[in-house]
Amino acid sequence: MTSIAVIVGSTREGSYNRALGELAASSLEAQGAGVTRVDLAAFDLPLYSSALEADAFPPDAQQLKMLLAAQDGLLFVSPEYNGSLPPLLKNAIDWASRPTGDEGLVALSAYRGKAAAIMSASISPFGGLRGLMHLRQILSTIQMIVIPEQVVVPNAHVAFAGDGSLKEPLPASLVEMTAGRLVAVARALSA
Ligand SMILES: Cc1cc2nc3c(=O)[nH]c(=O)nc-3n(C[C@H](O)[C@H](O)[C@H](O)COP(=O)(O)O)c2cc1C
Repeated sequence: MTSIAVIVGSTREGSYNRALGELAASSLEAQGAGVTRVDLAAFDLPLYSSALEADAFPPDAQQLKMLLAAQDGLLFVSPEYNGSLPPLLKNAIDWASRPTGDEGLVALSAYRGKAAAIMSASISPFGGLRGLMHLRQILSTIQMIVIPEQVVVPNAHVAFAGDGSLKEPLPASLVEMTAGRLVAVARALSA
């Protein structure tokens, strides 16, 4: 079974991106993937520093890296902070990009050559589009294959119905389409 991790870039209670990530996770499962939901609050990740890396690589960073490395594909669902991605998510991406054990400097074993997709929910009318542009570039830099489909959910504070579904049909259908393409590309790349 194709394995996909859903990584949410917010730990806020009532997070719109967690709600979007849950919708996407359900869609991924419905389209044949085995999904691991990654709650970054469950990982004790200090701000990256080379001294820490050299002297005491955080066990949770190692654990996150191993979890991501075991997947066929990754879905990032993240808010936009000041036109970019939140430090919570960038820090997690950075720790899991570091070589461990006998790996060379650019092993990128959690990421290299794997399928990725990106989604964002934001209270603004632009839906976090600028943050996704940065996230796409970062994921490409760490040698992921980022699919062209993506999802933005604008006006997130009024976008979700009481049952967690999206009120508007367009972003709802984009979630299905993006999840389906991610499963297909992850499956093809890991075959
Ligand atoms: C430091 C900070 C910067 C923000 N910058 C932006 C921004 O540039 N664009 C935007 O659409 N929303 C911005 N927001 C608002 C977020 O979209 C909003 O807080 C959203 O609910 C966060 O996602 P979450 O509900 O998943 O936690 C910002 C919020 C914070 C805390």
